[in-house]
Amino acid sequence: MTSPLKNDRLLRALARQPVDRTPIWIMRQAGRYLPEYKATRQRAGSFMDLCRSAELACEVTLQPLERYDLDAAILFSDILTIPDAMGLGLKFVAGEGPVFENPVRSAADIQRIKQPDMGSDLGYVMNAVSTIREALDGGVPLIGFTGSPWTLATYMVEGGGTKDFAKVKGLVYSDPKAAHLLLDKLADSVTDYLNAQIESGAQALMVFDTWGGVLAPHDYREFSLQYMQRIVDGLHRERPDGTYVPVTLFTKGGGQWASWIADTGADGIGLDWTVTLDSIREQVGDRVALQGNLDPSVLYAPDEVIEREVARILGEFGPHPGHVFNLGHGIHQYVNPDKVKVLVDAVHRLSAR
Ligand code: CP3
Repeated sequence: MTSPLKNDRLLRALARQPVDRTPIWIMRQAGRYLPEYKATRQRAGSFMDLCRSAELACEVTLQPLERYDLDAAILFSDILTIPDAMGLGLKFVAGEGPVFENPVRSAADIQRIKQPDMGSDLGYVMNAVSTIREALDGGVPLIGFTGSPWTLATYMVEGGGTKDFAKVKGLVYSDPKAAHLLLDKLADSVTDYLNAQIESGAQALMVFDTWGGVLAPHDYREFSLQYMQRIVDGLHRERPDGTYVPVTLFTKGGGQWASWIADTGADGIGLDWTVTLDSIREQVGDRVALQGNLDPSVLYAPDEVIEREVARILGEFGPHPGHVFNLGHGIHQYVNPDKVKVLVDAVHRLSAR
């Protein structure tokens, strides 16, 4: 694989090739734990205005890279851009998280959903990708992302966050045909969205299946994994210039299904902290890379505890190629930014070959 990058550790690890030290990036690395993020966010006015401005999205994407020796940048945007572009009317309400003005509840609502256009509706995301890619100037790779069809469907049917998933599971069990129509439309849009991000310059991709883990195993296969499989199959991972764009699937709470996820042909599997990397590696071997899996709450601990937990995870993965260090879920907003430096430096120091 040819790569013009100065730091290609992430791409090498995802290709299960040897690296001089384990690469690390952090889910939600640009976010509210950083005072400079909060300042830019305030200047933007609203969260969606921040996402819609290529210049400001680029600024916040680069902020964590200025502070820490991270091995990747991740596009600053949100998974809910697609439902917003489908006409659901996304609002971020302080203290409540995301809310949709027009949730989809019935088969008729689902039939009415229009497929967003990657240029006129979501061109602002593609502008952000190309702006960030240019600003990175070949330093570290840029990760593009999406939500999984199932995870997007949960927000679209519930109308926002939920604890019990009553409405979306109600739809799955009372009208599975309508649920599949929604997931089918989402899988098409998500595939187009990721391919457009590849064309705009994304060098690796991540699918966030935040809510796949709330399903029973057979329902996970039918309502989440099947659609992620379609996305993996539909991606243009081989670029015309010969570079390869790896994709990582992250089902939070999905570690028990790692071998099914590996069977999709994804390049990497994201794992949370409820599993150990050695047990997963035993099941999947080296046909995929593993990403994870520090409990984000460890960042509230004293420095020595953070270093001990890093050493434990590196030891559990062992000396093989194919590990991307990350948290098992997004960084919390109340973490002290100094702790992230302790984490990143410990991963590099303790993994140096
Ligand atoms: O990782 C990064 O730095 C890139 C940016 C990114 C954001 N959201 C920015 C964001 C990414 C990759 C996401 C993904 C995302 N968004 C997921 C999947 C990952 C996960 O955490 O499970 C989900 C489920 C969402 C939906 C979403 N967006 C929620 C539930 C919220 C509210 C979160 C909260 O804690 O209040 C958002 C808003 C959001 N997206 C913020 C950020 C930095 C905070 C908004 C703010 O600045 O007010």
